[in-house]
Amino acid sequence: MQKILKSQGTWIGKWTFVLAATGSAVGLGNIWGFPYKAGTEGGAAFVLIYLLCIVVIGVPIMISEILIGRRSGNSPINAMKRSAIDSGNSSMWQLVGWTGIFAGVLILSFYSVIAGICINYIFISAFPNELISSSEQFGAVISSPSNLLFWHTVFMLLTMLIVSAGVKDGIGRMVKILMPMLGFLLIFMVIYAMINGAFVEALAFLFAPDFSNIGTDTFLSAMGQAFFSLSLGMGSIMAYGAYMPKEQEIVSTSFSVGSLDTLIAILAGLAIFPIIFAFNLEPGSGPGLVFVSLLSAFNQMEFGQLIGPLFFILLSIAALSSSISILEPGVAYLAEEGFLSRKKSAVFISLLCWIIGIGTALGFNIFADNNGDNPFLSNMELISVQILQPFGGMMIAIFVGWFMDEALIKNEITNKYPIFYKLWRFFIKFIAPLSVAFIFISQLI
Ligand code: PHE
Repeated sequence: MQKILKSQGTWIGKWTFVLAATGSAVGLGNIWGFPYKAGTEGGAAFVLIYLLCIVVIGVPIMISEILIGRRSGNSPINAMKRSAIDSGNSSMWQLVGWTGIFAGVLILSFYSVIAGICINYIFISAFPNELISSSEQFGAVISSPSNLLFWHTVFMLLTMLIVSAGVKDGIGRMVKILMPMLGFLLIFMVIYAMINGAFVEALAFLFAPDFSNIGTDTFLSAMGQAFFSLSLGMGSIMAYGAYMPKEQEIVSTSFSVGSLDTLIAILAGLAIFPIIFAFNLEPGSGPGLVFVSLLSAFNQMEFGQLIGPLFFILLSIAALSSSISILEPGVAYLAEEGFLSRKKSAVFISLLCWIIGIGTALGFNIFADNNGDNPFLSNMELISVQILQPFGGMMIAIFVGWFMDEALIKNEITNKYPIFYKLWRFFIKFIAPLSVAFIFISQLI
């Protein structure tokens, strides 16, 4: 069978790529992951390392992923393969695409369980149970396997349906309206927290670093969070790059996506921590942080029963626009190779993610460890987010920095500001791969 290259078509309109990439980047990583990690990892020192990773490692790798994706117009596995062959290198570079798909399956498995909890909270915040505290409410949500599995299934089905229809229809439009709404609502929550919460304490927690108790695992966690939040190192941004129109500027686009993503994470932190400190909640309480803190805010505020559900609807949609980008690389590959139709590919990979996700759902209750933590979730995050994503990113940086033909790169990066190009070149050759390697190595010794 003849393979159809450029099978995916381009997105029409300059903004569609920016919107889709932002849709991929902005999601649970910003609003659930960032505050909970900042809380468990001790606050500002983590935040600072995270910001550094975004600038020094994240944005340079985003530029690389987009350029590889766009020049080939294929799914990440074939995009890596073609770029390698066209540069006179081994087609084995496609392995980077394969590890990415593996990472994506693991990520989506737990992502779907957490996003399912978000959907559940649409209803919980609309009809709050006044007899129990918001911590007890979260406890009730996660202690029921059937409840978690039900919402996990709902979210996985939604993701599968959108991806099997093809991500390029609809998502642009969805993101254009709903993302700004989520942004405004977050700003509203920050203002609410400023007035009603312990804002100064929160600012100190987030921005006055105390380096005395950070260890090598703080670095690993902050770096993983940066990769996770920017959707890097596993093919999502590369897959979307395949749809980016030729005339669009890659460098400035990457900066926009990176800044928007970071802004949303910081806003989430500023909305959540003042409430945590005002209500004497525990900042290091883990994955329940956003649900517990925001629910108590919604329960107290006027119109909270309207604003709460609206917030969780928007958050669920933000999670959906991310989850489809996690599923896309694998589905695009299977469909492009003609192994399975797009629909069947989506069903197949979603089913895999759904089955693995059962582990995360049960890890909250039946298989919780002695401290009540979810060992399955932390191990999934460790393998996929903290190890595989940075590893994939490092390989992409090494490939683009040292192996890819520079003429091919220059074809994609329009050299309006030569200084940016030179800077990026330096970062992608040395700084990004060495930083990842250094953090990995320091973890081992
Ligand atoms: N960036 C997304 C978020 O912050 C998650 C994601 C990870 C998306 C990896 C794609 C790939 O929620």
